[in-house]
Amino acid sequence: MQSGVKLRDIQIRSTARILRFMSTLSYGRWLIERVGCTRFGSSILGSVLGYRRSFQTLDEAERAVKPYAKGGHENPANAALHLQLNCAARPSDYAAFYYLRDRMPFIRKVFDFGGNVGNLYYCYKNYLPLASDLKWTVYDLPENNSRGQTLASERKVANLQFTDNIREAGAVDLFIASGSLHYFDKPLPNLLEGLDQLPRYILINRTPLTEGREFAVVQDARHIRVASMIYNRSRMIADFERLGYAVLGEWQAPELRLPVADRPSADLCAFSGLWLEHVNRHAAGSESLHNLAPTSFDGVTTRSRHFDDAPKADLATQIPSNA
Ligand SMILES: C[S@@+](CC[C@H](N)C(=O)[O-])C[C@H]1O[C@@H](n2cnc3c(N)ncnc32)[C@H](O)[C@@H]1O
Repeated sequence: MQSGVKLRDIQIRSTARILRFMSTLSYGRWLIERVGCTRFGSSILGSVLGYRRSFQTLDEAERAVKPYAKGGHENPANAALHLQLNCAARPSDYAAFYYLRDRMPFIRKVFDFGGNVGNLYYCYKNYLPLASDLKWTVYDLPENNSRGQTLASERKVANLQFTDNIREAGAVDLFIASGSLHYFDKPLPNLLEGLDQLPRYILINRTPLTEGREFAVVQDARHIRVASMIYNRSRMIADFERLGYAVLGEWQAPELRLPVADRPSADLCAFSGLWLEHVNRHAAGSESLHNLAPTSFDGVTTRSRHFDDAPKADLATQIPSNA
C-alpha cells in the first residue's frame, strides 16, 4: 500500500471506530442517523468514512475498496484462516446439521458455492454420514480453486473437485452457499433460474440478510477487505418460492455480525441460515429434479426457527466483522 493510501486507510478506520463507539450510545446512534439523513450530512459522513460507508450497489463498494482490499478473497492468508476457522463446526453449522444429518447418506452431488479451498467439506465430513461415492464440487475464484486442488491432492481426497462453471450447479442434490451469497452481484434465485435444472436442497448459511432496503458495505477483516451486498430476506425468499422452493428452516448465525458505520439502524446482530427444499415440481426449471428419498417435510411450508431467542453474541467472525 502506498503511503498516501495507508494514511487515508488509518483515517477511515479511526473514523469508523469512533462512529462505532458513538453508536453504542443511544444519543450517538440518533445523531449518526439524523446527520446521515440530510444530503449535506450524508455527503460529509460518506467522505470521512470512505470505503466504510454504505453503498447502493456491490459494484460501488468494490470500486471504493479496491486500493485497500489487500488481495481480497484471493489473499492466501484468507484461505489459511478459513481452513482454521472450519477445523471445528461453528454454532450455525449445527443448525445445518439438523437438516443434513438424515439426508446426507442419500446425497450424491454437492455444489459448494464460494467453498474456498473446500474447508466446509473437511469440516462436515467429521460430523455427517457422507456417501462413499459423494462428489463435492467447490465453485470459487481461480486462485482459491487451484489452492484447493493442491490441498486435496496433498490430502489424497478424491471426491473433492473444483470448478469455475456455475452451470454445474443445476445437476446436484444439494447446493450449499455458506458465507458466500453476499459477494455476488445477483441474488441466488436469479443465478439459479438460468440453470437447466434446479438443485433439490439448498443450504444457505452465515449470510447477512436484511428486512430493510438492500445495500452494500465493505467487510473489514484487517488482513483483507471485501465488498458485500446485503440482500432483502423476504424478497429473496419470495423469489425462491417462485422457483418452487419452500423454506423449511431458518436460523441465526450468532457468531457473525455486521456493523454499518453510517447507518447503525441497519446493523446486523447476526447472520442468517435457511434450509430450502424444492417442493413444486411444476415450477420453471424443475422438470428434471432427481428422485432422492422423500423427506418428511415434503410439501410443508411452515418454517421452523432456531436460535431466535439466542443472545446476540459479539464473537469473532468468519470475516471478523468491521472492527
Ligand atoms: C467467507 S468465504 C466462505 C467460505 C466457506 N464457504 C465457509 O462457509 O466457511 C467466501 C468465499 O466466497 C468466494 N467468492 C467471493 N466472490 C466470489 C466470486 N465472484 N466467484 C467465486 N467465489 C467467490 C471467496 O473466494 C471465498 O472463498
